[in-house]
Amino acid sequence: MRILISGGTVVTASGTMPADVLVDGEKIAALTTRDNFAERRSGQPAANEHVSAWAPAADRIIDATGKYVLPGGIDGHTHMEMPFGGTFSADTFETGTRAAAWGGTTTIIDFAVQAKGTSLLSTLDKWHAKADGNCAVDYGFHMIVSDVNDTSLKEMDACIAAGVNSFKMFMAYPGVFYATDGEILLAMQQAGRSGAIVMMHAENGIAIDQLVAQALAAGKTDPVQHGLTRPPELEGEATSRAITLAKVARSPLYIVHLSAIHALAAVAQARDAGQNVFAETCPQYLYLSLEDLARPGFEGAKYVASPPLRPPPHQQTLWQGLRTNDLSVVSTDHCPFCFADQKELGRGDFSKIPNGIPGVEHRMDLLHQGVVTGEISLSRWVEISSTTPARMFGLYPRKGVIQPGSDADIVIYNPLAKQILSVATHHMNVDYSAYEGMQITGKVETTLSRGRVVIDAGEYHGSAGHGQFLQRDLCQYLQ
Ligand code: URP
Ligand code: ZN
Ligand code: ZN
Repeated sequence: MRILISGGTVVTASGTMPADVLVDGEKIAALTTRDNFAERRSGQPAANEHVSAWAPAADRIIDATGKYVLPGGIDGHTHMEMPFGGTFSADTFETGTRAAAWGGTTTIIDFAVQAKGTSLLSTLDKWHAKADGNCAVDYGFHMIVSDVNDTSLKEMDACIAAGVNSFKMFMAYPGVFYATDGEILLAMQQAGRSGAIVMMHAENGIAIDQLVAQALAAGKTDPVQHGLTRPPELEGEATSRAITLAKVARSPLYIVHLSAIHALAAVAQARDAGQNVFAETCPQYLYLSLEDLARPGFEGAKYVASPPLRPPPHQQTLWQGLRTNDLSVVSTDHCPFCFADQKELGRGDFSKIPNGIPGVEHRMDLLHQGVVTGEISLSRWVEISSTTPARMFGLYPRKGVIQPGSDADIVIYNPLAKQILSVATHHMNVDYSAYEGMQITGKVETTLSRGRVVIDAGEYHGSAGHGQFLQRDLCQYLQ
């Protein structure tokens, strides 16, 4: 199957160009720029002899006039079917990857979760059993290491050989995922020796648990307490500590879901000093705030995630971090729990509300909103949502770029379309939208996953099992 995408503006991390894209099977076969000057003069796509040569050979021509043609989004942080707090996140790999495709994300990297007392390799098998044959778009795994011992440290190399070379650890959630500083140091040393990367959930969970106990003892049980008992200082402190441990261990470090000014300052300082420290933030920290957690009644439970949503002034600093590259990736931390029967588990005790916010479908749109409002440039939009995650997680140039030889993961995006985000129209398997009623300029029109049109003109044409497991190379910023 040959598809010609003609008349569009190709947007990459390094610029924009009027260009036509030829897809042959699963790959991008060719890219040809059109005459920019003639196009600007006439306002019409310029005729191009290469295109006319290709057109007869194409089985299908997609007219992308007036649209952006982007490399498919890569969401480096999702949780499908994740066990948490006695329940499971509500999207399966099937429903979650389908929703991703609707929103222009063609690759997810999900987290396999080691339960205490189990091995990393059996965990990986378990996650393959959940995902293999079920995904609508391509997927990879990170590994959550919650039981550091000789066996799991040795198994890290076997995970790397299996294409899983990023290991998430937690300074939060004592008794569940929490690792001591000593355990973190050991895992970082092991990762550093093997060229792998440790991803850190940086919140001081020991101190937080004391604040949570104090709040509950004082009868403060509402969802907003989730935010008030996890102050930004304790994210900043944990981030600094993780950075110090990584320095001593001679290991690179990737801070996940960074939400606070304090944490960003620590990352910026380490990067200025030349340390290999990277960080991501998430759309919820750019658009939502502690005020959402404080919504009346139990409504705030919809917004419980960790780290918590912060007071509004943090948002501008995070946008700034995206411009300066101290934040180099935006992932969703998509972790949906239904309001009706899952968030409900924490009514009367905020500490029992399952942590997580749905968002895999909306990342590209929400970040495009940052282009519309002038927070980031068009190229930066593509860089933080696709190209940098591809490089960070060893997928480039197979993913994250539109160039011959790359996978034909392509999004045709209408920058002028208007949409309103709502539970009534989203495709995630969750009974609320954290962005209910939000007006967005821009919308995905067509999504190709490895050359297959999976979304087009408001219809889904994909299938579970089209998505393939991605055996990832090492982080390309470290080579
Ligand atoms: O609240 C969150 N972030 N839930 C998912 C688990 C995690 O820590 O990423
Ligand atoms: Zn986390
Ligand atoms: Zn997460």
